[in-house]
Amino acid sequence: MIFRQLFEPVSSSYSYLLASRRGGEALIIDPVLEKVDRYLQLTQELELNLVKALDTHLHADHITGIGALRDRTHCITVMGEQSGVDVVSMRVADGDQVEIGGLALDVIYTPGHTDDSYSFLCGELVFTGDTLLIRGTGRTDFQNGDPRAQYESLFGRLLKLPDETLVYPAHDYKGDTVSTIGEERACNPRLQVKSAQEYVDLMSNLNLTNPKMMDVAVPANMKQGLVQEQIARRGWACSAEEAKALIDKPDVALIDLREKRERERHGMIPSGLHLPYHDLQANISPGGVLRMLAATQSKLLFYCAFGERSAMAVQAAQDAGLKSARHIEGGIDAWKKVDGALDDGSGGSVMLGPSVAGRSRYISARSQQELA
Ligand SMILES: [Fe+2]
Repeated sequence: MIFRQLFEPVSSSYSYLLASRRGGEALIIDPVLEKVDRYLQLTQELELNLVKALDTHLHADHITGIGALRDRTHCITVMGEQSGVDVVSMRVADGDQVEIGGLALDVIYTPGHTDDSYSFLCGELVFTGDTLLIRGTGRTDFQNGDPRAQYESLFGRLLKLPDETLVYPAHDYKGDTVSTIGEERACNPRLQVKSAQEYVDLMSNLNLTNPKMMDVAVPANMKQGLVQEQIARRGWACSAEEAKALIDKPDVALIDLREKRERERHGMIPSGLHLPYHDLQANISPGGVLRMLAATQSKLLFYCAFGERSAMAVQAAQDAGLKSARHIEGGIDAWKKVDGALDDGSGGSVMLGPSVAGRSRYISARSQQELA
Protein backbone atom coordinates (compact mmCIF):
# COMPACT_ATOMS: atom_id res chain seq x y z
CA MET A 1 0.00 0.00 0.00
CA ILE A 2 1.12 3.54 -0.74
CA PHE A 3 0.50 5.94 2.11
CA ARG A 4 1.72 9.53 2.36
CA GLN A 5 1.07 12.01 5.12
CA LEU A 6 1.34 15.55 3.75
CA PHE A 7 1.57 18.70 5.84
CA GLU A 8 0.32 22.24 5.28
CA PRO A 9 2.01 24.54 7.81
CA VAL A 10 -0.29 27.60 7.83
CA SER A 11 -3.27 25.67 9.25
CA SER A 12 -1.14 22.76 10.57
CA SER A 13 -3.24 20.43 8.43
CA TYR A 14 -2.48 16.88 7.47
CA SER A 15 -3.67 15.41 4.21
CA TYR A 16 -3.35 11.75 3.31
CA LEU A 17 -2.73 10.14 -0.02
CA LEU A 18 -3.67 6.45 -0.25
CA ALA A 19 -3.32 3.90 -3.02
CA SER A 20 -3.06 0.14 -3.10
CA ARG A 21 -0.07 0.14 -5.43
CA ARG A 22 2.20 2.24 -7.58
CA GLY A 23 0.47 2.89 -10.89
CA GLY A 24 -2.96 2.33 -9.36
CA GLU A 25 -5.90 4.43 -8.22
CA ALA A 26 -5.47 6.89 -5.40
CA LEU A 27 -7.61 8.89 -3.03
CA ILE A 28 -6.75 11.89 -0.94
CA ILE A 29 -8.22 12.83 2.42
CA ASP A 30 -8.53 16.48 3.51
CA PRO A 31 -6.50 18.15 0.76
CA VAL A 32 -5.63 21.83 1.24
CA LEU A 33 -6.07 24.23 -1.68
CA GLU A 34 -2.58 25.73 -1.47
CA LYS A 35 -1.01 22.28 -1.77
CA VAL A 36 -2.90 21.03 -4.81
CA ASP A 37 0.13 21.39 -7.11
CA ARG A 38 2.20 19.35 -4.68
CA TYR A 39 -0.41 16.57 -4.52
CA LEU A 40 -0.59 16.40 -8.30
CA GLN A 41 3.17 16.33 -8.60
CA LEU A 42 3.32 13.46 -6.12
CA THR A 43 0.58 11.47 -7.82
CA GLN A 44 2.46 11.91 -11.08
CA GLU A 45 5.74 10.79 -9.54
CA LEU A 46 4.08 7.71 -8.11
CA GLU A 47 2.15 7.14 -11.34
CA LEU A 48 -1.14 7.30 -9.48
CA ASN A 49 -4.55 8.06 -10.89
CA LEU A 50 -6.39 10.25 -8.39
CA VAL A 51 -10.01 9.09 -8.46
CA LYS A 52 -11.47 10.42 -5.20
CA ALA A 53 -10.89 13.45 -2.99
CA LEU A 54 -12.71 13.51 0.32
CA ASP A 55 -13.05 15.83 3.26
CA THR A 56 -13.69 14.52 6.76
CA HIS A 57 -15.85 17.60 7.40
CA LEU A 58 -16.41 21.17 6.30
CA HIS A 59 -13.24 22.89 7.43
CA ALA A 60 -13.17 26.31 9.07
CA ASP A 61 -9.43 26.93 9.14
CA HIS A 62 -8.36 26.37 5.53
CA ILE A 63 -9.86 26.18 2.06
CA THR A 64 -10.30 22.65 0.85
CA GLY A 65 -8.55 21.38 -2.24
CA ILE A 66 -11.27 18.93 -3.28
CA GLY A 67 -12.87 21.26 -5.84
CA ALA A 68 -9.56 22.20 -7.45
CA LEU A 69 -8.52 18.54 -7.59
CA ARG A 70 -11.83 17.62 -9.25
CA ASP A 71 -11.38 20.40 -11.81
CA ARG A 72 -7.84 19.28 -12.63
CA THR A 73 -8.15 15.50 -12.48
CA HIS A 74 -11.92 14.87 -12.90
CA CYS A 75 -11.85 12.88 -9.68
CA ILE A 76 -14.96 12.35 -7.56
CA THR A 77 -15.42 14.62 -4.54
CA VAL A 78 -16.80 12.93 -1.43
CA MET A 79 -18.28 14.31 1.80
CA GLY A 80 -20.82 13.24 4.38
CA GLU A 81 -24.52 13.52 3.69
CA GLN A 82 -24.93 16.17 6.39
CA SER A 83 -22.37 18.51 4.90
CA GLY A 84 -23.45 22.08 4.09
CA VAL A 85 -21.30 22.11 0.94
CA ASP A 86 -23.38 23.09 -2.10
CA VAL A 87 -22.48 20.17 -4.34
CA VAL A 88 -20.12 17.22 -4.04
CA SER A 89 -20.05 14.31 -6.44
CA MET A 90 -20.88 11.72 -3.80
CA ARG A 91 -22.26 11.90 -0.30
CA VAL A 92 -21.62 9.13 2.19
CA ALA A 93 -23.23 7.98 5.43
CA ASP A 94 -22.31 5.77 8.36
CA GLY A 95 -21.68 2.18 7.28
CA ASP A 96 -20.81 3.05 3.68
CA GLN A 97 -17.50 2.27 2.08
CA VAL A 98 -15.39 4.58 -0.05
CA GLU A 99 -13.74 2.39 -2.65
CA ILE A 100 -10.86 2.80 -5.04
CA GLY A 101 -8.98 0.07 -6.87
CA GLY A 102 -7.61 -2.35 -4.26
CA LEU A 103 -8.71 -0.32 -1.21
CA ALA A 104 -11.91 0.28 0.73
CA LEU A 105 -12.41 2.74 3.58
CA ASP A 106 -15.16 2.14 6.11
CA VAL A 107 -17.20 5.27 6.73
CA ILE A 108 -17.84 6.08 10.40
CA TYR A 109 -20.11 8.98 11.29
CA THR A 110 -18.44 10.81 14.16
CA PRO A 111 -20.33 14.09 14.71
CA GLY A 112 -19.46 16.55 17.45
CA HIS A 113 -16.71 18.80 16.12
CA THR A 114 -19.21 19.57 13.35
CA ASP A 115 -22.44 17.82 12.44
CA ASP A 116 -20.83 16.57 9.22
CA SER A 117 -17.71 15.02 10.78
CA TYR A 118 -16.72 11.58 9.58
CA SER A 119 -13.84 9.21 10.26
CA PHE A 120 -12.53 6.71 7.74
CA LEU A 121 -11.08 3.34 8.66
CA CYS A 122 -8.65 1.65 6.31
CA GLY A 123 -7.47 -1.61 7.85
CA GLU A 124 -5.36 -0.63 10.87
CA LEU A 125 -5.40 3.08 10.03
CA VAL A 126 -8.14 5.45 11.08
CA PHE A 127 -8.41 8.97 9.72
CA THR A 128 -10.18 10.88 12.44
CA GLY A 129 -10.49 14.38 10.99
CA ASP A 130 -10.94 16.80 13.88
CA THR A 131 -12.89 14.36 16.01
CA LEU A 132 -9.88 12.75 17.66
CA LEU A 133 -6.58 14.62 17.61
CA ILE A 134 -3.30 13.50 19.15
CA ARG A 135 -3.72 14.31 22.85
CA GLY A 136 -6.71 16.45 22.01
CA THR A 137 -10.14 16.53 20.42
CA GLY A 138 -11.67 18.98 17.95
CA ARG A 139 -13.48 21.99 19.36
CA THR A 140 -17.26 21.76 19.45
CA ASP A 141 -18.27 25.42 19.77
CA PHE A 142 -19.23 26.28 16.16
CA GLN A 143 -20.53 24.76 12.90
CA ASN A 144 -23.26 22.85 14.73
CA GLY A 145 -20.68 21.37 17.05
CA ASP A 146 -22.01 19.33 19.94
CA PRO A 147 -19.82 18.08 22.81
CA ARG A 148 -22.30 15.36 23.78
CA ALA A 149 -22.36 14.00 20.24
CA GLN A 150 -18.58 14.11 20.19
CA TYR A 151 -18.41 12.16 23.44
CA GLU A 152 -20.53 9.45 21.80
CA SER A 153 -18.37 9.54 18.66
CA LEU A 154 -15.23 9.15 20.73
CA PHE A 155 -16.29 6.68 23.39
CA GLY A 156 -19.01 4.90 21.43
CA ARG A 157 -17.18 4.60 18.10
CA LEU A 158 -13.49 5.47 17.81
CA LEU A 159 -12.32 4.11 21.17
CA LYS A 160 -14.08 0.84 20.36
CA LEU A 161 -11.50 0.24 17.61
CA PRO A 162 -8.58 -2.07 18.49
CA ASP A 163 -5.91 -0.44 20.64
CA GLU A 164 -3.25 -0.84 17.97
CA THR A 165 -5.26 1.09 15.36
CA LEU A 166 -3.12 3.96 14.09
CA VAL A 167 -4.72 7.38 14.50
CA TYR A 168 -4.13 9.95 11.75
CA PRO A 169 -5.82 13.28 12.54
CA ALA A 170 -6.54 16.23 10.25
CA HIS A 171 -4.31 18.53 12.30
CA ASP A 172 -1.50 18.61 14.76
CA TYR A 173 -0.19 21.82 16.22
CA LYS A 174 2.75 20.32 18.12
CA GLY A 175 4.48 18.32 15.43
CA ASP A 176 3.14 14.88 16.31
CA THR A 177 2.26 12.79 13.29
CA VAL A 178 0.54 9.61 14.44
CA SER A 179 -0.81 7.92 17.55
CA THR A 180 -2.82 4.82 18.38
CA ILE A 181 -6.25 4.31 19.85
CA GLY A 182 -4.70 2.64 22.93
CA GLU A 183 -2.26 5.50 23.43
CA GLU A 184 -5.00 8.12 23.14
CA ARG A 185 -7.29 6.27 25.51
CA ALA A 186 -4.50 6.22 28.10
CA CYS A 187 -2.84 9.58 27.53
CA ASN A 188 -5.25 12.00 25.86
CA PRO A 189 -6.26 14.46 28.62
CA ARG A 190 -9.69 15.05 27.03
CA LEU A 191 -10.48 11.34 27.27
CA GLN A 192 -9.87 11.04 31.01
CA VAL A 193 -13.45 12.04 31.85
CA LYS A 194 -15.82 9.82 33.81
CA SER A 195 -19.07 10.80 32.12
CA ALA A 196 -20.58 12.48 29.09
CA GLN A 197 -21.53 15.45 31.28
CA GLU A 198 -17.96 15.87 32.45
CA TYR A 199 -16.85 15.92 28.81
CA VAL A 200 -19.56 18.46 27.93
CA ASP A 201 -18.45 20.69 30.80
CA LEU A 202 -14.82 20.40 29.75
CA MET A 203 -15.54 21.26 26.11
CA SER A 204 -17.93 24.08 27.00
CA ASN A 205 -15.30 25.95 28.95
CA LEU A 206 -12.41 26.05 26.50
CA ASN A 207 -13.05 29.70 25.52
CA LEU A 208 -11.20 29.43 22.22
CA THR A 209 -10.93 32.24 19.70
CA ASN A 210 -12.26 31.55 16.22
CA PRO A 211 -9.80 30.32 13.57
CA LYS A 212 -8.17 33.19 11.64
CA MET A 213 -9.38 31.89 8.31
CA MET A 214 -12.92 31.06 9.43
CA ASP A 215 -14.74 33.94 7.74
CA VAL A 216 -13.05 33.12 4.46
CA ALA A 217 -12.73 29.35 4.65
CA VAL A 218 -16.28 28.37 5.62
CA PRO A 219 -18.06 30.27 2.80
CA ALA A 220 -15.42 29.10 0.29
CA ASN A 221 -15.71 25.50 1.43
CA MET A 222 -19.47 25.62 1.09
CA LYS A 223 -19.15 26.45 -2.59
CA GLN A 224 -17.27 23.55 -4.11
CA GLY A 225 -19.73 22.50 -6.80
CA LEU A 226 -18.56 22.06 -10.35
CA VAL A 227 -19.32 25.03 -12.59
CA GLN A 228 -21.83 23.42 -14.94
CA GLU A 229 -23.04 26.45 -16.91
CA GLN A 230 -20.78 25.75 -19.84
CA ILE A 231 -22.24 22.28 -20.28
CA ALA A 232 -25.76 23.76 -20.25
CA ARG A 233 -24.83 26.62 -22.60
CA ARG A 234 -23.66 24.13 -25.15
CA GLY A 235 -27.03 22.40 -25.02
CA TRP A 236 -25.64 19.29 -23.34
CA ALA A 237 -27.88 19.43 -20.26
CA CYS A 238 -31.52 18.83 -19.58
CA SER A 239 -33.50 19.47 -16.44
CA ALA A 240 -34.95 16.62 -14.43
CA GLU A 241 -38.40 17.68 -15.62
CA GLU A 242 -37.30 17.54 -19.26
CA ALA A 243 -35.69 14.15 -18.63
CA LYS A 244 -39.07 12.69 -17.65
CA ALA A 245 -40.17 12.94 -21.25
CA LEU A 246 -36.97 11.38 -22.53
CA ILE A 247 -36.34 8.27 -20.49
CA ASP A 248 -38.82 6.01 -22.25
CA LYS A 249 -37.86 7.05 -25.74
CA PRO A 250 -36.36 4.10 -27.64
CA ASP A 251 -33.53 6.18 -29.03
CA VAL A 252 -32.37 7.41 -25.62
CA ALA A 253 -29.88 5.39 -23.57
CA LEU A 254 -30.08 6.45 -19.93
CA ILE A 255 -26.81 5.81 -18.11
CA ASP A 256 -26.37 5.74 -14.34
CA LEU A 257 -22.80 6.68 -13.43
CA ARG A 258 -23.12 6.09 -9.70
CA GLU A 259 -21.68 3.26 -7.68
CA LYS A 260 -23.67 0.18 -6.72
CA ARG A 261 -24.13 1.30 -3.12
CA GLU A 262 -25.56 4.65 -4.18
CA ARG A 263 -28.10 2.91 -6.40
CA GLU A 264 -29.16 0.62 -3.57
CA ARG A 265 -29.41 3.44 -1.08
CA HIS A 266 -31.07 6.10 -3.20
CA GLY A 267 -32.88 4.14 -5.91
CA MET A 268 -32.51 4.51 -9.65
CA ILE A 269 -34.37 5.87 -12.62
CA PRO A 270 -36.14 2.95 -14.34
CA SER A 271 -34.64 1.49 -17.50
CA GLY A 272 -31.18 2.95 -17.11
CA LEU A 273 -27.89 1.19 -17.76
CA HIS A 274 -25.45 1.01 -14.90
CA LEU A 275 -22.02 2.05 -16.14
CA PRO A 276 -20.10 3.57 -13.21
CA TYR A 277 -18.09 6.76 -13.70
CA HIS A 278 -15.06 4.79 -12.62
CA ASP A 279 -15.11 2.98 -15.99
CA LEU A 280 -16.00 5.98 -18.13
CA GLN A 281 -12.71 6.29 -19.99
CA ALA A 282 -12.77 2.62 -21.00
CA ASN A 283 -16.42 2.88 -21.98
CA ILE A 284 -15.99 5.87 -24.28
CA SER A 285 -12.78 4.53 -25.84
CA PRO A 286 -12.84 2.54 -29.10
CA GLY A 287 -14.49 -0.81 -28.36
CA GLY A 288 -16.17 0.61 -25.25
CA VAL A 289 -19.82 0.02 -24.56
CA LEU A 290 -20.77 3.70 -24.67
CA ARG A 291 -19.11 4.14 -28.03
CA MET A 292 -21.10 1.18 -29.32
CA LEU A 293 -24.30 2.61 -27.85
CA ALA A 294 -23.66 6.04 -29.32
CA ALA A 295 -23.52 4.46 -32.75
CA THR A 296 -27.06 3.08 -32.40
CA GLN A 297 -28.87 5.45 -30.03
CA SER A 298 -29.44 9.07 -30.88
CA LYS A 299 -28.87 10.24 -27.34
CA LEU A 300 -26.74 9.16 -24.40
CA LEU A 301 -28.29 10.62 -21.26
CA PHE A 302 -25.97 10.44 -18.23
CA TYR A 303 -27.03 10.89 -14.66
CA CYS A 304 -25.41 10.53 -11.25
CA ALA A 305 -26.14 11.73 -7.69
CA PHE A 306 -25.96 15.53 -8.06
CA GLY A 307 -24.88 16.17 -11.64
CA GLU A 308 -21.12 16.45 -11.19
CA ARG A 309 -19.98 13.12 -12.50
CA SER A 310 -22.52 13.33 -15.32
CA ALA A 311 -21.32 16.82 -16.30
CA MET A 312 -17.73 15.57 -16.39
CA ALA A 313 -18.86 12.50 -18.32
CA VAL A 314 -20.65 14.62 -20.93
CA GLN A 315 -17.52 16.69 -21.45
CA ALA A 316 -15.32 13.59 -21.71
CA ALA A 317 -17.75 11.88 -24.09
CA GLN A 318 -18.00 14.99 -26.26
CA ASP A 319 -14.21 15.27 -26.29
CA ALA A 320 -14.07 11.64 -27.40
CA GLY A 321 -16.43 12.40 -30.30
CA LEU A 322 -19.66 11.06 -28.76
CA LYS A 323 -21.71 14.04 -29.84
CA SER A 324 -25.05 12.72 -28.58
CA ALA A 325 -23.95 12.82 -24.92
CA ARG A 326 -26.18 14.83 -22.55
CA HIS A 327 -26.81 14.79 -18.80
CA ILE A 328 -29.53 15.38 -16.27
CA GLU A 329 -28.67 18.50 -14.31
CA GLY A 330 -28.70 17.92 -10.58
CA GLY A 331 -28.75 14.13 -10.93
CA ILE A 332 -31.12 11.85 -9.07
CA ASP A 333 -31.38 14.45 -6.34
CA ALA A 334 -33.12 16.79 -8.82
CA TRP A 335 -35.07 13.85 -10.28
CA LYS A 336 -36.56 13.09 -6.87
CA LYS A 337 -37.52 16.74 -6.39
CA VAL A 338 -39.71 16.61 -9.50
CA ASP A 339 -41.22 13.29 -8.37
CA GLY A 340 -39.57 11.28 -11.11
CA ALA A 341 -40.25 7.52 -11.12
CA LEU A 342 -37.82 5.36 -9.17
CA ASP A 343 -36.80 1.73 -8.97
CA ASP A 344 -35.85 0.82 -5.43
CA GLY A 345 -32.57 -0.82 -6.39
CA SER A 346 -33.73 -4.38 -5.74
CA GLY A 347 -34.41 -4.94 -9.42
CA GLY A 348 -31.53 -7.35 -9.97
CA SER A 349 -28.49 -6.02 -11.73
CA VAL A 350 -26.73 -8.55 -13.90
CA MET A 351 -23.17 -8.64 -15.06
CA LEU A 352 -22.52 -8.12 -18.71
CA GLY A 353 -19.75 -10.41 -19.86
CA PRO A 354 -16.16 -9.30 -20.28
CA SER A 355 -16.54 -9.26 -24.06
CA VAL A 356 -17.65 -5.65 -23.89
CA ALA A 357 -14.56 -3.47 -23.78
CA GLY A 358 -12.72 -6.40 -22.23
CA ARG A 359 -14.08 -5.65 -18.76
CA SER A 360 -17.03 -6.70 -16.64
CA ARG A 361 -19.92 -4.31 -16.50
CA TYR A 362 -23.10 -4.16 -14.50
CA ILE A 363 -26.23 -3.19 -16.32
CA SER A 364 -29.87 -3.67 -15.54
CA ALA A 365 -31.53 -6.82 -16.88
CA ARG A 366 -33.93 -4.82 -19.00
CA SER A 367 -31.22 -2.75 -20.54
CA GLN A 368 -29.05 -5.74 -21.25
CA GLN A 369 -31.61 -6.87 -23.80
CA GLU A 370 -31.51 -3.47 -25.41
CA LEU A 371 -27.76 -3.68 -25.62
CA ALA A 372 -27.53 -7.20 -26.95
FE1 LIG B 1 -12.20 21.26 11.58
